[in-house]
Amino acid sequence: MELGKWLKHAYAISIVVLLHINASLSLGHHHANVTRCVKRERDALLAIQRDLVDDYNRLSSWGSGSEAQKEDCCRWDGVYCDNQTGHVLRLDLGVDDPWWKDGESTFSGLQGTISPQLIQLHQLTYLNLSCNYFNMSQIPAFIGSLTNLRYLDLSQGGFGGQIPSHALGNLTHLTYLDLSYNDFNGSQIPAFIGSLTNLRYLDLSQGGFGGQIPSHALGNLTHLTYLDLSYNNFHGSQIPAFIGSLTSLRYLDLSWASFGGQIPSHALGNLTHLQYLNLRNEELHYFSEFPLLVENLSWLPHLSSL
Ligand SMILES: *[C@@H]1O[C@H](CO)[C@@H](O)[C@H](O)[C@H]1NC(C)=O
Ligand SMILES: *[C@@H]1O[C@H](CO)[C@@H](O)[C@H](O)[C@H]1NC(C)=O
Ligand SMILES: *[C@@H]1O[C@H](CO)[C@@H](O)[C@H](O)[C@H]1NC(C)=O
Ligand SMILES: *[C@@H]1O[C@H](CO)[C@@H](O)[C@H](O)[C@H]1NC(C)=O
Ligand SMILES: *[C@@H]1O[C@H](CO)[C@@H](O)[C@H](O)[C@H]1NC(C)=O
Ligand SMILES: *[C@@H]1O[C@H](CO)[C@@H](O)[C@H](O)[C@H]1NC(C)=O
Ligand SMILES: *[C@@H]1O[C@H](CO)[C@@H](O)[C@H](O)[C@H]1NC(C)=O
Ligand SMILES: *[C@@H]1O[C@H](CO)[C@@H](O)[C@H](O)[C@H]1NC(C)=O
Ligand SMILES: *[C@@H]1O[C@H](CO)[C@@H](O)[C@H](O)[C@H]1NC(C)=O
Repeated sequence: MELGKWLKHAYAISIVVLLHINASLSLGHHHANVTRCVKRERDALLAIQRDLVDDYNRLSSWGSGSEAQKEDCCRWDGVYCDNQTGHVLRLDLGVDDPWWKDGESTFSGLQGTISPQLIQLHQLTYLNLSCNYFNMSQIPAFIGSLTNLRYLDLSQGGFGGQIPSHALGNLTHLTYLDLSYNDFNGSQIPAFIGSLTNLRYLDLSQGGFGGQIPSHALGNLTHLTYLDLSYNNFHGSQIPAFIGSLTSLRYLDLSWASFGGQIPSHALGNLTHLQYLNLRNEELHYFSEFPLLVENLSWLPHLSSL
């Protein structure tokens, strides 16, 4: 695997591992005989299941099995509850490698629609719908009322159209947002992302984004350690100088995003915590300013465009 790709994966995995360590400290998954599930949330999960197309029985543990298992939604696959209150804290419907199942190249992720009953899970801190296929529908606006969310992974979800900005701007506790590998049809990166000032991790790669980047907004994300804008089409606009104010960045990928013009090396020179930088792109004019940039970032272990 290409080193850059590997680093990216290693970084993503370390974040996910941390997440799971955190989760296993505070969440009990299978706990003995005690039914902890909150009835209203159980009903909501069953409604969510009804609206999904689940050809590969990923949710077969939901509402089936022994009496205790049927009743206690906290024992269902992908559902993690608070062990004190029984509220659902994490819903993990992300699929690993959805294209291959039993050696066939059929799609084995979930399809269908996301039930508005999802909002009954109002204590959710983690929602993962990654690698399913929601038929290029919009991200549902009601996700915006899950204001306790810290982690939202909608990557490769088959989402499309416009992002409901007014709604998702309420998710101010988010530290992790992944909208990569969807098709937002050339729309701008929505400015509301700039109000999510707790974000550490932001992946908008291959999202079908276009137009101008709302720099005034994104410059507020000073806690970001990971930013990936690669594989979008910013129509030859310059790499925005606001990147220079994201001084916590450790990982920055701006490759193949159709940036043009000069690299704002003055701005990038501020990113003294960078460990990974990818500027690979045919259109950029490296050679006038690059030496200067490289001088200040010379400790970078991996500078992908050299
Ligand atoms: C519930 O979680 C707490 C930590 O948040 C842990 O100390 C405790 O042992 C857990 N209780 C049960 C019954 O799993
Ligand atoms: C769970 O099981 C333990 C022992 O197996 C028993 O003492 C306890 O009463 C049970 N709790 C419930 C709620 O059934
Ligand atoms: C979401 O689920 C996918 C598939 O299991 C996994 O690769 C990804 O790391 C998960 N995202 C987060 C934030 O945990
Ligand atoms: C997916 O979207 C297309 C076009 O909007 C529509 O014709 C089709 O019925 C949808 N399929 C499902 C399963 O919802
Ligand atoms: C977002 O927050 C505003 C103000 O608190 C509220 O009026 C609005 O209904 C919220 N939007 C959603 C989708 O929850
Ligand atoms: C995508 O954008 C184009 C141009 O703005 C528009 O004509 C088309 O209807 C959009 N498609 C969808 C699915 O929103
Ligand atoms: C970004 O910060 C500026 C100044 O602090 C503020 O005026 C602006 O509203 C913020 N933008 C967003 C999208 O939150
Ligand atoms: C980079 O740092 C210098 C000096 O600390 C500062 O004047 C400049 O505004 C910063 N550039 C950006 C784009 O934040
Ligand atoms: C490199 O760093 C020096 C000293 O910190 C600074 O004066 C200069 O502007 C930086 N150059 C670039 C291209 O960022």
